[in-house]
Amino acid sequence: MGKWHSGRARGISRRELLRLALGAGTLAFSGVAMAATSSLVRRPIPRTGESLPVIGLGTWQTFDVGRAESKRAPLREVLREFVRLGGSVVDSSPMYGESEGVAGDLAAELGVQQQLFLATKVWTSGRDAGIRQMEQSFRRLRAQRMDLMQVHNLVDWRTHLATLRGWKEQGKVRYVGVTHYTEGAYGDLARVLETEELDFVQLNYSIAEREAERKMLPLAAERRMAVLVNRPFAQAGLFSKVRGKPLPVWAAEFGCASWAQFFLKFVISHPAVTCAIPATSKVQHLVDNMQAGVAPLPDAAMRERMARHVAEL
Ligand SMILES: NC(=O)c1ccc[n+]([C@@H]2O[C@H](COP(=O)([O-])OP(=O)(O)OC[C@H]3O[C@@H](n4cnc5c(N)ncnc54)[C@H](OP(=O)(O)O)[C@@H]3O)[C@@H](O)[C@H]2O)c1
Repeated sequence: MGKWHSGRARGISRRELLRLALGAGTLAFSGVAMAATSSLVRRPIPRTGESLPVIGLGTWQTFDVGRAESKRAPLREVLREFVRLGGSVVDSSPMYGESEGVAGDLAAELGVQQQLFLATKVWTSGRDAGIRQMEQSFRRLRAQRMDLMQVHNLVDWRTHLATLRGWKEQGKVRYVGVTHYTEGAYGDLARVLETEELDFVQLNYSIAEREAERKMLPLAAERRMAVLVNRPFAQAGLFSKVRGKPLPVWAAEFGCASWAQFFLKFVISHPAVTCAIPATSKVQHLVDNMQAGVAPLPDAAMRERMARHVAEL
């Protein structure tokens, strides 16, 4: 760990990425544009070496919109730009209302299913109920094979992991993981990571919620598990904290031109993190968030400076 991996963003030039970001009003410093490179940083999934772009897309609340075209249209643009800018990891759950179905429908309409790395979850108790729910997720996401199936909030995890091991052997799921969203669960989460062979763990981590740095992120790295980060903006709480406050001028040193990029670059520059999954319903926010995944990223000393700055606001 420690070395940052980069790779080419699919089908988009540096000039185009910068044009989109500028169009969305997210790049305020011309110096940043000069510093940006052409591609989203990618990180390997430790157990296979397959690489993923460091910025993904969450769907909680944002994709839970039902069938109305007026509600779906902005999300179609979010997903279109996400893929165009090189994104692939989309995270959902049967707990998120209609989000799985909306993401599945929009991906099919856009013809981008093959470019996505689909991650969803099982969130129920009992073997048969788990199987029924996961099969429903396959249908809703229109997936023949799920890239990643996670046990949501560790609900009945022993039962579902037993099912998922079989499914992985059959090729029905490619990777298996567990999730949680609060530091109160880290004790339980750590015990599962220590004893189970998992490909992924998903947890909360942000510049405002750094507890994962103490045990969970080092443990995931030691156990060679990929890390998806939920709540990278502390569920938008971070934006309230910085409202009306200017971005520090030194943020330009690591190619950062907005608060969203500041928060995301902090998360993805932790060497144990594979991919952050911010949620957004707005295409200009999506473009802003994707720009955070373009090098350079802050180094360890800069990360501490960033955290101090936010703590003192
Ligand atoms: N496993 C779990 O237990 C668990 C728990 C929570 C979340 N998750 C997963 O993690 C994902 C992310 O977490 P989250 O949805 O709780 O919160 P989050 O990503 O930290 O924050 C989402 C909020 O930030 C806003 N936002 C996004 N980009 C922005 C930008 N560039 N500028 C300003 N505002 C911006 C969004 O509003 P706009 O729509 O206005 O952009 C939305 O209100 C979820 O969607 C879900 O997939 C998992």
